[in-house]
Amino acid sequence: MTDYKLKKDHRHFLDLISLSKVEAREIVDKAKALKEAAKSINQSKGFVHPEAPLENQSLAMIFEKPSTRTRVSFEMAMHQLGGKSVVLQNHDMQLGRGESVSDTARVLSCFVDAIMLRANSHDALLEMAEHSNVPIINALTDFSHPCQIMADILTYEEHRGSIKGKKIAWSGDGNNVAISWIHASVLFDCEMALACPEEYSPLEQVVGWAKNNGGKITITDNPEEAVKDADCVITDTWISMGDEDADERLNTLAPYQVSEDLMDRAKSSAIFMHCLPAHRGEEVSSEVIDGPQSVIWDEAENRLHTQKAILMWCFGK
Ligand code: CP
Ligand code: NVA
Repeated sequence: MTDYKLKKDHRHFLDLISLSKVEAREIVDKAKALKEAAKSINQSKGFVHPEAPLENQSLAMIFEKPSTRTRVSFEMAMHQLGGKSVVLQNHDMQLGRGESVSDTARVLSCFVDAIMLRANSHDALLEMAEHSNVPIINALTDFSHPCQIMADILTYEEHRGSIKGKKIAWSGDGNNVAISWIHASVLFDCEMALACPEEYSPLEQVVGWAKNNGGKITITDNPEEAVKDADCVITDTWISMGDEDADERLNTLAPYQVSEDLMDRAKSSAIFMHCLPAHRGEEVSSEVIDGPQSVIWDEAENRLHTQKAILMWCFGK
C-alpha cells in the first residue's frame, strides 16, 4: 500500500488500528446505548431519534462493489439520526469513467459532511482521505472491513459478555474481514486463532503488527487446532468480491468449512458468526449457520447500531 499523508484534522474511520483502544471501546458502547434507545422509542424502522443528533449532517455513500447490509444500514442510520444520505454507485459517477479519486474527494467535500466508500482498492480509500475535507469511512476494501467488526464485537458481547481474554477462532480465507478481526483482537484484548491454508493466510505484515502490539495471535493450517476451546467461531466467503481464482479457492479451502463437527470441537458455549452474504455448503454448513449457536441475524442487525456510533464518532458527537 502507498503511504499517504493523512490530514489529522478529520475523524476518518479508515481502519480499527487508526483508533485508540479507548475510542474503539467508546464506539461499541455507544452503539449498545443507541440500540437500547432505538428499541425504546421506535414504532417503525423509519423513525427519527427525538434528539436528531445528526440533524443538518450529510453523508455520500460511494459503492465500487455491491452491498446489501452496509448500504441499507448506513442509509437508515443517517435517517434515524436525523441526517441525510446520498447513494452513489461507481458506474453512475464520473469516478467510474476515469475522474480521479482526488478530484472526486475535493468535489464531494463541497456538498456533504462525510463520505463513506466501498472501494476495490485500499489505496483509493487512503487517497480519498488524503484529499477530502470531510471524514472518510471505510465501508470495505480489498484490505479490510472495520465497520463489520464493530458490529461483531457488539454481537459477541450481547450474547456472551466482555470479549476481553476470549478466544476467537477463524477458519477459512485470511481475507479483508479476517484482517479487521486481527486488528480488533489487539484493540479489544482477545485471543485470535486463524486456520487458513498457506496461500490464503492473512498478510504477514498484519500478523506481525498484531504480535508487535501485544496481540495473542496464532496461525495454523489445522481448523481443529484453531477452534479448540474457542468462545466464538467465525468464517467468511471463500470468494470475496474481486477474487478471480474461484475454482482454486473452492478446492483449497474445502477442508476449512465450519461444520457441526468443527463447532463441536469449540467450547459448548461457543457462538458462530458470519458477516454475510453466506454460501451454505461452502464456507459453512446449513446446519451451523441455521443452528442454535449461530447469531448471524443479530450480527446483521447490529450493523445499523454500530454504523450510528461510527457516524457520531466521525461527526464528533
Ligand atoms: N457484511 C457486509 O458488508 O454485507 P454487504 O456486502 O451486504 O454490505
Ligand atoms: N470478504 C467479503 C466480505 C463481504 C461483506 C468480500 O470482500 O467480498
